[in-house]
Amino acid sequence: MNYLIGIDLGTSSTKTVLFDENGEVISSASKDYPLYTPQNGWAEQKPEDWRDAALETISDVVKNSGVAAQDIKGLGISGQMHGLVMLDEAGEVIRPSIIWCDQRTSKECEEMTEKIGRERLVEITANPAMTGFTASKILWVRNNEPENYARCRHILLPKDYVRYILTGEFATEVSDASGMQLLDVPKRQWSDEILEKLDIDKNLLAKVYESPEVTGTILPEIAKKVGLSTSTVVVGGAGDNAAAAVGTGVVEDGKAFTTIGTSGVVYAHSSNISIDPQGRVHTFCCAVPGAWHVMGVTQAAGYSLAWYQENMGTSYAAEAKEKGCSAFEIINKEVEETPIGANKLIYLPYLNGERTPHLDANCRGVFFGLSSMHTRKDIVRAVMEGISYSLTDCKDILAEMGICVNDMMACGGGAKNAVQRQMMADMYGCNVNTVTATEGPALGVAILAGVGAGIYESVEAACRKMIHTDPAKECKPNAENTKQYDKYHQIYKNLYTALKDQYQALAEL
Ligand code: XUL
Repeated sequence: MNYLIGIDLGTSSTKTVLFDENGEVISSASKDYPLYTPQNGWAEQKPEDWRDAALETISDVVKNSGVAAQDIKGLGISGQMHGLVMLDEAGEVIRPSIIWCDQRTSKECEEMTEKIGRERLVEITANPAMTGFTASKILWVRNNEPENYARCRHILLPKDYVRYILTGEFATEVSDASGMQLLDVPKRQWSDEILEKLDIDKNLLAKVYESPEVTGTILPEIAKKVGLSTSTVVVGGAGDNAAAAVGTGVVEDGKAFTTIGTSGVVYAHSSNISIDPQGRVHTFCCAVPGAWHVMGVTQAAGYSLAWYQENMGTSYAAEAKEKGCSAFEIINKEVEETPIGANKLIYLPYLNGERTPHLDANCRGVFFGLSSMHTRKDIVRAVMEGISYSLTDCKDILAEMGICVNDMMACGGGAKNAVQRQMMADMYGCNVNTVTATEGPALGVAILAGVGAGIYESVEAACRKMIHTDPAKECKPNAENTKQYDKYHQIYKNLYTALKDQYQALAEL
């Protein structure tokens, strides 16, 4: 039997899973690390923590599985996108990584737009200048820490730093490189025009591969340390969403997934490149060679519920303890007992500004229609509905761009919640399914490793064989509910339009 390893380098932890060639989990291990916020709106992590977590978890999964090193044919890495890792001549980390959710680069985004032009930037990189993306972070270091920039010889993304540790190669792949805003996304190669206009030396950047391509093998000293073989191939891998797509079988036209974690993502596969000129959704290369994906992002999806629970719904925790169940069981029951529309209460989930559909860093959360008759049940239902309206906005933009979705998968923490899945099915007006495998991105990159190692013929063929939906969990839309939600969704959309200028005024106070 052949075996494969998938590593998922997340924001709170790195999870490593050893699979057999049928996608069965043989062993898994994870290790947490801190996130540093040295200033309001900043977010940094130490690449050395990612390195240690990857080496430790690889070592654990190999040891615990009892599988022989030479039977582990391939390894793939997935991870948080957009983070900036800078290395010096000796390959040493220069400063902590400025990661995806860091918002310090508004000025650098203006600089990019000025130097390249908004329209041209969208044409080449498929996105307007984004504070979360890597290019503006590179400019920030150049503008604010010139001594660090001068020492920099290599720029890598988080997962590509781990690849460098494992293989000694400076390599990346198209899906993650798409989030740097230095890639020509239609052509799947670094954009000389962008690099020239931003005055960034191409030699700082890694070689770009397609996601299932082999980028190297394990270095002898690392192989010895973690119990792998020097013939284990390391493939390109993928950014977290592109990897989750492979792990849920979203690798063909018509297929899409929604994930509700801290943020929410609606992701659709597209064999043709399709770019929203307004930049409301991201278009990135996907992990299937020659294809793309379009993706809308709700900044505070699961985060809205967590925020509500922590700050206003504290009674749930106490009650859950008393009843010996989880707070979510109580919440779900209350949501089910409350009618659609939460007794005329609407929540806008813009706690941290919004990406899709508004691209507005200044908008904020709203409860609209609060009345003395409302209880915590209405409020929590309104929060869940508000998250789902925002995800529906993402799906509607995909439809506007001609990307039709017949098959929506649900994944991430929110997918475990049947009430939330039914709400999505009703609002989207299509079936919502889940897959039996729960390893998402780690399975996705293990599949890519299997393609690179020659075990599977293609990403699509591997997914057809290995990814199965769970029929018991299918949610079908209820047409009457869809009609009801539509009425509230219209008011939800009008609220942003009505408040837009006031959000700006509030931010400027
Ligand atoms: C994608 C994005 C997140 C990060 C962190 O654009 O910002 O998915 O990759 O998970």
